Amino acid sequence: MFNENVYSKHVVDFYDTCRGSQMSQKLRTTLHVFTEDDLFGYLPTTVMGVEVQFLNTEAPIPAEVEVLLVDIDLKDPALIDKVRAFRNIAKPETQIFITVSKGDRQHQRQASALGARKTVLKPLSEIGLAIVIEELRTPHRFATSTTKSIIADSARAMREIFDQAAQKEPIDTALIGETGRQLAESVADLGVLDWLDTVRIYHNSTFQHVLLVTGIACAFAQGVGMNSQDIAKLTQAGLLHDIGKIWTPPAILDKTGKLSPEEFAIIQRHPKDGYQRLASQKDFHPDILDAVLHHHEYLDGSGYPDGLQAHEIRDLTRILTICDIAGALLEKRPYKSAFTIEETLGVLFEMASQGKVERALVVALARVFDCAITAAKRPKSDLYESKQN
Ligand SMILES: [Fe+2]
Ligand SMILES: [Fe+2]
Repeated sequence: MFNENVYSKHVVDFYDTCRGSQMSQKLRTTLHVFTEDDLFGYLPTTVMGVEVQFLNTEAPIPAEVEVLLVDIDLKDPALIDKVRAFRNIAKPETQIFITVSKGDRQHQRQASALGARKTVLKPLSEIGLAIVIEELRTPHRFATSTTKSIIADSARAMREIFDQAAQKEPIDTALIGETGRQLAESVADLGVLDWLDTVRIYHNSTFQHVLLVTGIACAFAQGVGMNSQDIAKLTQAGLLHDIGKIWTPPAILDKTGKLSPEEFAIIQRHPKDGYQRLASQKDFHPDILDAVLHHHEYLDGSGYPDGLQAHEIRDLTRILTICDIAGALLEKRPYKSAFTIEETLGVLFEMASQGKVERALVVALARVFDCAITAAKRPKSDLYESKQN
């Protein structure tokens, strides 16, 4: 039988070994379980201080649900449709967990496509519920509601800007400037690791890539001590770099298999399309325009669209290229799990060895991540004490 004390103690221990006051706050939410099985009476209705409610699979999932644990047959299209319908109406901060059978990669992929933050093994038990609650409490400890709303605001602003570009309306440069400024502040406050975690959890859409790349670019710029004008330029270049993709057919952008040469040629148009659209407005800084046009160029001349050589590629553009690659690798997609930071840096170092990207910049990015990892591992109390001394 379920023993709440075991899990409670586990979480208390976790609090003690992790960071301070924010962690000890109780989660003020309800865990809703969408299950076909009649588990009411078999599973506890409170786990680690969190209420557990079971939803009827006959009815739609209510929009106000904030944490949803889906425990259904992932081959049942009617139930899958209910989860999809819920995702369309759910709040942006809603989190979904899904049960899968051990070793079933297809179910894993499906769970990821449905937006699962984490999967839990079937059959659902009280341990599964405890894992979900612990997960809720751990990875984005400092993602305050302010950060979440900055991410949501940034994504909304990007949608507006991309729509303006698509509809040939003037692009709101003040909105880009303000979005970039808020984003840079948030990355500085939160640290790049928690920014990455929060974006990956809370923004599972087209703009995830843009927000990841821009967050990494901000952390890089702040980490190497760039001046505020350069930080602003790099941030705005990050937000706008893939704007040309609004003219790339979604079927090509979302294709999970290998692209044909014709499809790849179409994808390769996006830097020029984006550049032409922005350049026509005449109020973007030349460094931003250059970064948009040339973020897929490599130092050895093997990139696109112009096959530039190293000496022809500006500094800001070289930095954006590295952040773009890092963002793409760290991104979660329905068909691929995210690379770790170590794996991402490994790919970038390999590209530097091949002469494609600048090694000194990869080293600088590695230092930025390394400092962030060291800071995250350091207990809060140490930081507090060292400030006092
Ligand atoms: Fe791109
Ligand atoms: Fe990109």
